[in-house]
Amino acid sequence: MKVLVFGAGGREHAIITALLRDPAVTEVHAAPGNAGIARVVPVHRIDPSSPEQATGLAEDLDADLVVIGPEAPLVAGVADALREAGIPVFGPDAAAARLESSKAFAKEVMVEAGVPTAEAAVARDLEETRAAMDRFGAPYVIKDDGLAGGKGVVVTEDPAAAEAHAAACFEAGSAVVIEEYLDGPEVSLFVLCDGVHTVPLSPAQDFKRIGDDDAGPNTGGMGAYTPLPWLPEGFTDEVVAAVAQPVVDAMARRATPFVGVLYCGLAVTARGVRVIEFNARFGDPETQAVLARLRTPLGQLLLSAAEGELDPDQKLRWDLRPAVDVVMAAENYPGTPRTGDEITGLADAEQLPDVTVLHAGTAEQPDGVGNTRVVTAGGRVLAVVALGEDLADARARAYAGVEAISWPGEQHRTDIARRAAEGRITIPAP
Ligand code: AMP
Ligand code: GLY
Repeated sequence: MKVLVFGAGGREHAIITALLRDPAVTEVHAAPGNAGIARVVPVHRIDPSSPEQATGLAEDLDADLVVIGPEAPLVAGVADALREAGIPVFGPDAAAARLESSKAFAKEVMVEAGVPTAEAAVARDLEETRAAMDRFGAPYVIKDDGLAGGKGVVVTEDPAAAEAHAAACFEAGSAVVIEEYLDGPEVSLFVLCDGVHTVPLSPAQDFKRIGDDDAGPNTGGMGAYTPLPWLPEGFTDEVVAAVAQPVVDAMARRATPFVGVLYCGLAVTARGVRVIEFNARFGDPETQAVLARLRTPLGQLLLSAAEGELDPDQKLRWDLRPAVDVVMAAENYPGTPRTGDEITGLADAEQLPDVTVLHAGTAEQPDGVGNTRVVTAGGRVLAVVALGEDLADARARAYAGVEAISWPGEQHRTDIARRAAEGRITIPAP
């Protein structure tokens, strides 16, 4: 099986690493990839959000399966174009990707499917925003209705800050969604879908804020771990039954079947599980941890989903050891990152047992004396992933990798998976 993967992040490097472990996968290509991906598979310099270029490359390569990593190509209709051309694709059509690209649409489907979520109101001006804020009370949750790379949400006790975010969204032409605040720890659950059937992966937790102890602004995600020892038994099956399957059924009824991964962003609240958001793709950086543990061959699994033949009764196989990944980011991220800094210590980190370095914002540059060096080329630069005997051990291994790598202005959180390793995560009592 020849697989073509679209995207350039750590998630795609993780997907490719897992695909290369699948004995049925004979060849993997990526577009556009990054410096780390280019070391393991051929990369192609096309724009994966262009339906013409994406389909052209898949046809030229005679790909048996295309896996779409990020949301932008999905929203641009790249999966539609590939399906039209008869190429199996893991990733939803644009109409189904609206579960991610419009929070208002996602709410509509959740209401229709009876899925538990935060109460919400859509506002198109400041007056409507203030009315909704009064209705739900503090802390205020104000979301850009459109795609914002995980950075469009402000959660604040300060009404002025809430209104300022709403005003900025209106100025940029977006509506805003105002929500009831959800207490309780967050869970990311990835559910593979073939339009009809669902197969869940192992739950993970992401760390969204830039700073330790969840200080500072939201990012795309600064680290993750899996599995979650504090979840009640049966949690995953419950979420599939109450959330994922009803949404997949609703999308099928609407004649916009969901094929790909339904990312259920959940809060485990005092009143039960609530959906915070859906994404129409794998999460980054949760995927780096989740796929590090997957032992079922990934290529065959994604192909069966793309072809509508996912077996909902199959039991996926997992490495029993937990996985932790820590994101290393460039100076000034999540603002405009500084790029072009030389990264040192990659080989040292990669030599550590059970440690993998997955690239995101990296590029190769000639060093002027006939060799190349790896430099920073984006906000989130790398994720260091480790498996360990327990969460504390996995953390220690991942952070040993992080310590080996450096560049000027590098930043990372020091508390990824710490509270879980110390047994300090609790679900609020009803
Ligand atoms: P989203 O882009 O919708 O995933 O939101 C980004 C982050 O904002 C989430 O991961 C949560 O940490 C936080 N958040 C979003 N909605 C809520 C809510 N209703 N209550 C509490 N926190 C929220
Ligand atoms: N880790 C959050 C996301 O992928 O949206």
